Amino acid sequence: MPPWSSEPRPALPMPGIRASSSRPNSPLEGMQQALHGGVVWSNLSGTCTRGMGFAVMLTSWILAWLHVVSAICWLGGGIMFAFVVGPALARLSPASSGEFLVKVVPRVVMFFQVFAGLTILFGVLLLYNMGGLGLLSPSSSYGLDLTLGATFAIVAFVESEFVAVPIQLRAVRLIREMLAAGGHQPPAEFPRTVRLATITATVTVVLLILASIFMVGAGFY
Ligand code: HEM
Repeated sequence: MPPWSSEPRPALPMPGIRASSSRPNSPLEGMQQALHGGVVWSNLSGTCTRGMGFAVMLTSWILAWLHVVSAICWLGGGIMFAFVVGPALARLSPASSGEFLVKVVPRVVMFFQVFAGLTILFGVLLLYNMGGLGLLSPSSSYGLDLTLGATFAIVAFVESEFVAVPIQLRAVRLIREMLAAGGHQPPAEFPRTVRLATITATVTVVLLILASIFMVGAGFY
């Protein structure tokens, strides 16, 4: 339920990071409250609305910020790579795409691995800080959204680490081996490897979009 909904707010089964002591009556008022720190500062004296102490709420706010920024880097970078850079690579000359693969792709892969790890790490810390595994109860809409979001996220992480990344690095290795042998023609398996790399990167992005849809859904409760 959006914070500005006219329906009475249900009793919440768990602490949340956007609890507010005065409920906004419109999206604009909600934004004003958020901008003026309505969540945190109005609760300085005493416990916050969902029974969360100030320190826990502040830590959750910081962890949520770190979690969301890491997720933006992971998902945003993935979308950019799968839908813009990958297809453009196919249109470069073999020499240019080879140089790009050898000099740029390993750094890109490292970037994804770091932000994928940070997204999961901050997500797990946030979950722990807000109440732990009990929040994942599928009997509430909040718990169900969070459970589905985290499940898609973990599947995306495993698929990326153990399927997509090894294929991307195999494409890099093929070009390195070709250059080391003084050749100019990529091996026959190269185009198939690049195609597979693009497909698996797209699968990661789709799983991440599903994860973020459910995470944002959870944020509405
Ligand atoms: C194991 C993995 C993950 C865990 C345990 C986790 C956990 C959480 C938790 C506890 C929240 C706070 C929900 C609330 O508002 O009460 C959250 C929010 C969020 N998460 Fe995750 N998360 C994970 C992965 C991801 C991934 C992969 C993405 C996106 C690529 C993502 C995107 C978000 C976003 C955008 C929010 C903010 C939602 C909002 O408040 O509107 N999370 N996450």
